[in-house]
Amino acid sequence: MCKELAVERIPISGPSITQKEIDYVNDAVTNAWYGNANMYHERFEKAFADYLGVCFAVSLPSCTSAIHLSLLALGLGPEDEVVVPDATWIASAAPINYVGATPVFADIDSKTWCLSAESFEECITANTRAVIPVDLYGNMPNMNAIRDVAQRNEVAVIEDAAEAVGAEYKGKKAGSFGDTGVFSFHGSKTLTTGEGGMLVTDREDIYRRVLFLRDHGRRPGDKMFWNTEVAYKYKMSSMQAALGLAQLERIEELVDRKREIFSWYEQELGTIEGIVLNYEAPDTKSTYWMVTVVVDKELMITKEQIIEQASQRDVDCRPFFYPLSSLPPYKELKQATFARQHNYVSYRVSPYAVNLPSGLKIKEAEVRYASAILKDILQHSIR
Ligand SMILES: Cc1ncc(COP(=O)(O)O)c(C=O)c1O
Repeated sequence: MCKELAVERIPISGPSITQKEIDYVNDAVTNAWYGNANMYHERFEKAFADYLGVCFAVSLPSCTSAIHLSLLALGLGPEDEVVVPDATWIASAAPINYVGATPVFADIDSKTWCLSAESFEECITANTRAVIPVDLYGNMPNMNAIRDVAQRNEVAVIEDAAEAVGAEYKGKKAGSFGDTGVFSFHGSKTLTTGEGGMLVTDREDIYRRVLFLRDHGRRPGDKMFWNTEVAYKYKMSSMQAALGLAQLERIEELVDRKREIFSWYEQELGTIEGIVLNYEAPDTKSTYWMVTVVVDKELMITKEQIIEQASQRDVDCRPFFYPLSSLPPYKELKQATFARQHNYVSYRVSPYAVNLPSGLKIKEAEVRYASAILKDILQHSIR
């Protein structure tokens, strides 16, 4: 219990579910069978593609599967290298291993915390075939610079917009910048289907290959159970698609709410010396999926200590992602050793940064309470 507020713990994240979502899911479970089995998938995918301004969208069980299918559809395999930012969730990189390729860890930009175009360029070798820029915490990287490096070096782009539905760069929607764009609809995300994901693309060849690969290597619409390759089973249920459609029809409201939550934190923490909040570049619209605070090293407190102390006072925080090159599955790779020596920003930010409670149902008073707790923790840290 937060004694000052007389309410339960303040959770780190969570969705906004209304009667609309309940009605759509109810309708799906009642009617989306037999000849109507795909009606919600079709509506959700069409509405999602229209929202993003792209040609094709394929609903999937997760964003991880969307990255996996992107790599497969681009024909990546052993011998190939894929550049990925060092500071991201492992799901951005794990599918690189699934296809037998090698992840190469580039540094992040010190302001946006997203892939640095300069570092990406430094990572390119004769074997680089793709890059996975990540729209971290609902923000956007310098997409023009990244696309420029990618084009000059003939490197495919898979935009990992898992955390950034609704974000924009120069008026164009997150997820629409690459050969493919991928989204997560996990329960913590701004738009949720419980678990789920989406792959979008303007390339018909990729779209057709993805439809084939995600259904055990058979042609879409096949009724003869005739497989021509061993592939995968990556599908979303109609109940999830119905939930996603209802959420998508509320997307402006959900993104506005995220931005409002950030504005409350900004009022409380924006002028505090020694901390930095999410940065939004002038030509970017961030969705602030996770409000994040980076604390000066001089305050002598680590993210683990902040999380522990906040938790004791009923405020749930999350660590900024550990650099992938520091994690056990990757740290023995020669690419990881190189990354640890070169990815100065990732290694400077990650130890001192936490995500603050950012669930869509958080109240202004809870943001003020969580901010007060953080300020108190920081004030006592150097004594
Ligand atoms: C940056 C990033 N990429 C990929 C994923 C994977 O998404 P999913 O859990 O839907 O597979 C996540 C999930 O949180 C993520 O944050």
